[in-house]
Amino acid sequence: MSIDLGHLEDCFQQKFHQPPRWGARAPGRVNLIGEHIDYNGGFVLPAAINREVAMLASPSPDHEFHLYSVNYSEGFRFSSGDLNLSQRSQSGWPNYVLAVLDQLHKRGIRIPPLQVIIEGDVPSAAGLSSSAAVEVCAATLFLACIEHELPGEQLALLAQSAEHSPWVGVQCGIMDQFISVHGLEGHALKIDCRDLSYSPVQVDPRLVSLVVIHSTVGRELMKSAYNQRRSECEQALTLLNQSSGLSRNYLVQYSPEEFEIYRQNLPGLLSRRARHVISEQARVVEFEQVMNRGDFQAAGQLLQASHASLRDDYEVSCPELDCIYEISLNIDGVYGCRMTGAGFGGCAVALADPEQAETVADRIAGEFEKIRKMRPWTMVTPACRGACHWKIDSNSP
Ligand code: GLA
Repeated sequence: MSIDLGHLEDCFQQKFHQPPRWGARAPGRVNLIGEHIDYNGGFVLPAAINREVAMLASPSPDHEFHLYSVNYSEGFRFSSGDLNLSQRSQSGWPNYVLAVLDQLHKRGIRIPPLQVIIEGDVPSAAGLSSSAAVEVCAATLFLACIEHELPGEQLALLAQSAEHSPWVGVQCGIMDQFISVHGLEGHALKIDCRDLSYSPVQVDPRLVSLVVIHSTVGRELMKSAYNQRRSECEQALTLLNQSSGLSRNYLVQYSPEEFEIYRQNLPGLLSRRARHVISEQARVVEFEQVMNRGDFQAAGQLLQASHASLRDDYEVSCPELDCIYEISLNIDGVYGCRMTGAGFGGCAVALADPEQAETVADRIAGEFEKIRKMRPWTMVTPACRGACHWKIDSNSP
């Protein structure tokens, strides 16, 4: 829990001249392994991090919604009766909230006008799912205000459809929203993105640390390249189905052995995209097993193999992420390291010995600075719980 709620309540009082009545929070995430395979029906293995978005609300005094962002020191008002895209905000941040409201309306869930304050410390454009945290937090808050419960799976799907909608426009998989809802303290989750079943994988902070290193690069290219990778996977699946005569729905339904047999018809680029997806799926399965045995050396090797595959076959890394990866190979206390999230910038994650985690973070940042003349920020995070909500003056979290 990283946002100071007492301070946020004070800001709310100052801004809206009354105390808030409801609160919600939702974390960002770091994905340990299983990259770019959620939208291919694969397994992913993310953990919620100790950076989050928090929102507080009270009924609106008029017919409008009043949003205020502490991060941007900026307000935004709108009428929710007839939500339409012409109400999109130039500053970007309100659109995630409007997208969620729109999705609730589409499901017949009406939210009365509210005054809402928002604060977050999930770094944006860093591949740590700040947008999913906003979407999940908004959905959790709005439902709490009308005392309406949705099963976690539906909440995550609703937040994902907000991200897909024209308000935001990224055709993301389900991973980010799902872990923001379901995160579990001291555990990552292995999620089967086909049926949304999941199982906890222990990440005991006394035994292993998660070190996040920013590449110093934002992800401007991300949206178009992400959607392009999705369509390349669809093309690869069509061609594999043609050459095998099978009609599989997802790339991950091809085993590595089957892929070797049927890949001949695929042009080089599509073959490499599919090879990443199919090999990554196998790595997640193995990662869960070795983590459950506490074999962090083996887990680290899998992270490294995942990075190489994302760099060479899926081509979503960048020189800065590769630099962090290379540096980490020679740092004591690192079990393994790889880029995390969509790529093209953003962050890398390393599994490290807890006694050396802070030194590991410092040494990677120092070596990176020597080579690239910029010092990346780093953080060491435990695996945290997912979203929650509360009524002020009763059960504050
Ligand atoms: C982004 C998307 C996720 C997932 C990752 C890559 O974070 O939102 O759904 O596809 O990229 O693994």
